[in-house]
Amino acid sequence: MNMFPAPLPGGTWPLGDLTVTRFGYGAMQLAGPGVMGPPADRSGALAVLREAADLGITHIDTSSAYGPRVTNQLIREALDPYPEPLHVVTKVGATRDAHGGWPPARDPESLRRSVSENLETLGLEVLDVVNLRLGNAQGPQPGSLAEPFETLAGLQQQGLIRHLGVSNATAEQVAEAQAIAPIACVQNMYNLAYRHDDKLIDELAEQGIAYVPFFPLGGFSPLQSAALSAVATRLDTAPMSVALAWLLQRSPNILLIPGTSSVAHLRENVAGAGLSLSGEDLAELDNIGR
Ligand SMILES: NC(=O)c1ccc[n+]([C@@H]2O[C@H](COP(=O)([O-])OP(=O)(O)OC[C@H]3O[C@@H](n4cnc5c(N)ncnc54)[C@H](OP(=O)(O)O)[C@@H]3O)[C@@H](O)[C@H]2O)c1
Repeated sequence: MNMFPAPLPGGTWPLGDLTVTRFGYGAMQLAGPGVMGPPADRSGALAVLREAADLGITHIDTSSAYGPRVTNQLIREALDPYPEPLHVVTKVGATRDAHGGWPPARDPESLRRSVSENLETLGLEVLDVVNLRLGNAQGPQPGSLAEPFETLAGLQQQGLIRHLGVSNATAEQVAEAQAIAPIACVQNMYNLAYRHDDKLIDELAEQGIAYVPFFPLGGFSPLQSAALSAVATRLDTAPMSVALAWLLQRSPNILLIPGTSSVAHLRENVAGAGLSLSGEDLAELDNIGR
């Protein structure tokens, strides 16, 4: 790891008693097509992870469901022994079926198995942050999270998990989780064009809790918008850079975990996210999701 990397855009934010760079990295798309199996370019995937650490990124998002197990194994191979400031955030609550689907796995036994599998594949004795993934591929779904979240709180009390979070959750489920145990983060879908969580983000910011948008660049169908392209052209930069800079400026508790399988895109995203957007740029960009 580079001992003296340049500061990353956005600075840092706390995840419980841990500190992470607001510019993080999401490892999901390092697995094979459909997030199943190994990557076509294994050494390229390892190079992206090592570059992330070299750039000073201290927040990597993963799950043993990715591959399954593939991204965790890549992270371990690239980065174990983990440098002290690096924190790997994982999630449980879904498994994979033979067709690449993501069936829920939130019964107590499945959750215990997933936590063990994450510990083993990452080569860790304690998981820094575990998100309980709720809902389904259509998004958050209403319903109580008490049983699965209490199971994870029990594993936290056993010392296997440092901090808890929720993912793909409704605002009601976030509040229900907080009544059971403190949460360090909420990881939901959010980006320039998809802004269902605006109110939740502001409420979490007031409590000092991180909001970690998944699909910050649009996910499997990257963001496309004439307004985004117009701002990027005016600023002589890439649309993805504008999308990331907008998220960093949207709220101080937003942590970025953009995915990429390319070292060049990773460097471009880090450089671009530091762009300073004017009031006029922000007003134009704000219209995209309204
Ligand atoms: N909690 C959940 O339910 C959940 C769901 C989905 C994802 N996640 C997490 O969120 C993270 C981020 O989501 P994501 O990776 O699916 O989507 P994303 O970050 O919105 O977008 C990733 C896509 O953008 C492309 N990209 C990245 N930088 C680019 C650039 N500079 N120029 C052009 N294209 C660029 C990547 O392609 P290249 O590889 O070609 O760069 C990749 O196809 C995941 O890695 C995962 O950790 C969580």
